[in-house]
Amino acid sequence: MGRWNLDAINWKAFDPAKVDPNLLILAKTASVVEYNSADYVSYLHNVFSDDAVLKKAVEGWGQEEIQHGLALAKWAKLADPSFDFEKSLENFREAFKVPVESTTSIRGSRSAELVARCLVECGTTSYYSSLADVAEEPVFKQVCQMIAADEVHHYTLFYRHLQNYLGREPMSLLERCKVAVARSMEASSEELLFAYAATNLDGDIRYEDLPVYNREYLGRVCGIYTLKNLRVGIKMGCRAAGLEKFPRVAEVVSRLVYHVFQSKARKLNRPAA
Ligand SMILES: [Fe+2]
Ligand SMILES: [Fe+2]
Repeated sequence: MGRWNLDAINWKAFDPAKVDPNLLILAKTASVVEYNSADYVSYLHNVFSDDAVLKKAVEGWGQEEIQHGLALAKWAKLADPSFDFEKSLENFREAFKVPVESTTSIRGSRSAELVARCLVECGTTSYYSSLADVAEEPVFKQVCQMIAADEVHHYTLFYRHLQNYLGREPMSLLERCKVAVARSMEASSEELLFAYAATNLDGDIRYEDLPVYNREYLGRVCGIYTLKNLRVGIKMGCRAAGLEKFPRVAEVVSRLVYHVFQSKARKLNRPAA
C-alpha cells in the first residue's frame, strides 16, 4: 500500500492556462516508464529469488511506481484530452523490453544491482523535485512533489538492503563508483527515448531515429534541473557509491553536472542558423 493514492491529488485545481507544453511532453514520457515498473519487479524477483523480504519490499515499490505512472497519465490527459495512454504504453512496450528473464543481475552482482537501483531513485528524486519547482500548473506541481517524496523513500529502501548485501557480497569503492557512474550515464537511455517517441510522436518508433529523439528529449530535460535539486540527488548517489566520507566530491559533481546540463540545454534549444 502506498503512502498516498490518486484521490490525494487536488484534481479540481487544474488550470489549463498554466500548462507548459514542454512539461506536458515530459509528463507523458515519464508516465509509461513509471507504469512499466512491473517488468522491473519481475526482474528483481528473479535476481533476488531467495530473499523473501526484499521481494515483498519490491512488490510495494512496484505498486508505487505504477501509481506514479497513473498520476502522470491522468494529469497529461487533463492537459491534452487526445493523449491515449494505453496506446502509448503498448507502443512503448513493443519498442523496449526489460530483461525480465535474467536470473542474475545485469550489473554483475546483487550488491551492484542495489547500487544501480539507488542511483535510479537519486535521479528520479532530482528530476521530480526540479519539475515540481519549475511547474506553474498547480496539479502537476502537487503530483511531482508527491512522486519526489516517494522517490526518496525508494532510495532509502534500496540503500538499506544494499547495506545488508555488502556484508555478503562486498564491493570495492572503485567497483561501487563504476556501477554508479555507469547507471547515471544511462539517464538518457533507450528506455526514456523510446518512451518519449511512443507518447509524443506519431508514426513508427525507429531505432535509427534515436539520435533525433535524444536531441528533442534532452533539449527539454536538461534545462529543468536546478542546482539545489541536483545536489540532493547527487549527494544520495555518492552515498550509494560509498563516497559519504568525501562530501566535496558530491559538491564538485553537482556543479559539473549542472554546468553540463545547462550548456546542453542552451545548445539543443538554439534556433538553427
Ligand atoms: Fe517513480
Ligand atoms: Fe522510484
